[in-house]
Amino acid sequence: MKRRSFLLMGSAAILWSPSLFAQERREQVEVVVIGAGGAGLAAAIVAADAGARVIVLEKMPVVGGNTQLAAGGMNAAGTRVQSGKGIKDEWQWMYEDTMKGGRNRNQPELVEIMTKGSAGAVEWLEGLGAQIPGIVRSGGARADRTHQPVGGPTFGPYITRVLLDNVVRRKVPVRRNSKVVEILQKPDGAMRGVVVQDRRGGLYTIETQAIVIASGGYGSNPKRVAELRPDLANFTSTGQPGTTGDAIDLASRIGAEVFDLDQIQIHPTQAVGAKTLISETVRGAGAILVNRDGKRFVNEVTTRDKASAAVLAQKGRTAFLVFDEGVKGSMSMMEGYFHLGLVREATTLEALAARCGIDAANLASTVEAYNRYQAQKHDAEFERDDMARPIARPSYYAIEVNPGIHFTMGGIRINGRTQVMSRDKRALPGLYAAGEVTGGVHGANRLGGNAMTALFTFGPIAGREAASYAKTGRS
Ligand code: FUM
Repeated sequence: MKRRSFLLMGSAAILWSPSLFAQERREQVEVVVIGAGGAGLAAAIVAADAGARVIVLEKMPVVGGNTQLAAGGMNAAGTRVQSGKGIKDEWQWMYEDTMKGGRNRNQPELVEIMTKGSAGAVEWLEGLGAQIPGIVRSGGARADRTHQPVGGPTFGPYITRVLLDNVVRRKVPVRRNSKVVEILQKPDGAMRGVVVQDRRGGLYTIETQAIVIASGGYGSNPKRVAELRPDLANFTSTGQPGTTGDAIDLASRIGAEVFDLDQIQIHPTQAVGAKTLISETVRGAGAILVNRDGKRFVNEVTTRDKASAAVLAQKGRTAFLVFDEGVKGSMSMMEGYFHLGLVREATTLEALAARCGIDAANLASTVEAYNRYQAQKHDAEFERDDMARPIARPSYYAIEVNPGIHFTMGGIRINGRTQVMSRDKRALPGLYAAGEVTGGVHGANRLGGNAMTALFTFGPIAGREAASYAKTGRS
């Protein structure tokens, strides 16, 4: 309610709102998309393909949102890529893994839509020109289902490029430095438009029939995080600085239900001293986690909540990801970590341990035991079921990591058609939402790789629904 205050005009008091100052400049479209991350761009593409006049508004100076930073890849079950590699997987398994990972706090209807639609979402991206034939495993998954571009580069920049090319090809304007500060409704509650603040602070109105909110979460809003979760007050965020949750407030102000806001995920492997996320897929490719005593302390490919808690229980509340040349060579995203100076290296495990202040004798025997488990396909200590390769090819590498705020699971309540639901359980006519701004999909803990799945299942649904509503006026 911050923006609503009273202005004194002579002796009269009137309600102040940004729309009062946005009367002069007006534009009209059929669908406004708030946020130029993966969900927003996907919605814009589908809405444009359905014949709607669309505009994408991005408050940041750059596009891509948190999608641009996504490291690992996109989960999908029952894809052609999986069957080509002989990987057995089914959407029902992905559903079960997602519910279990989210501690059953997830909304089953949304999880079913996402997992059932995941293979189709990969095909939709391929239809846009994406090539994601790589496969690794992320934490909490029972099958290799995290799809990646060729050679394992970071997924986010790759997919953002593909989406942007498609948006540009469809001549959909993407306006940066453009922050939506108010959502306007008709007297009957249907959407009427948005008030936008441009880069100079000027306000203008875009009239529209339908609005898709795809503005991301609130992990980079330290004040909000500290209020919701005092235990996370001093954690840094792996997210982009624009994820502050403003659009959640805008939606709430017009009656949308928001929930589960205290469900905030920390990711176990953020590089110490940097805000860089070290992808979970590095563990999927074979890295282990050790503490200063040179010992493993957790199943490295368990869910993030468990792995994060385990890291925080170690001396210094940090740990070391240890890997070898084999892991390094298997994924080109590694180059970025080296480039940023995050990796320590040595030709022997003993020398590596000395560089990191780890107990050298223990590290050598830990790696020896791990390699034995890997050969036997049975981790007798931590029941890690996915051990891609041994740690046996010098050089050896370590990255010191600690948990960082990574994802916010709470947000705006939507139904299976991405319609935004009001606090009194009605769909708000013409208002849709998709991506991290929504709650309910991931429950209490998101599985690695599922953020992208949610974007590319619900983003297109939102685009289709919004375009159809704009054309017909019917929900
Ligand atoms: O660790 C990661 O690669 C992160 C992936 C995700 O958050 O989905």
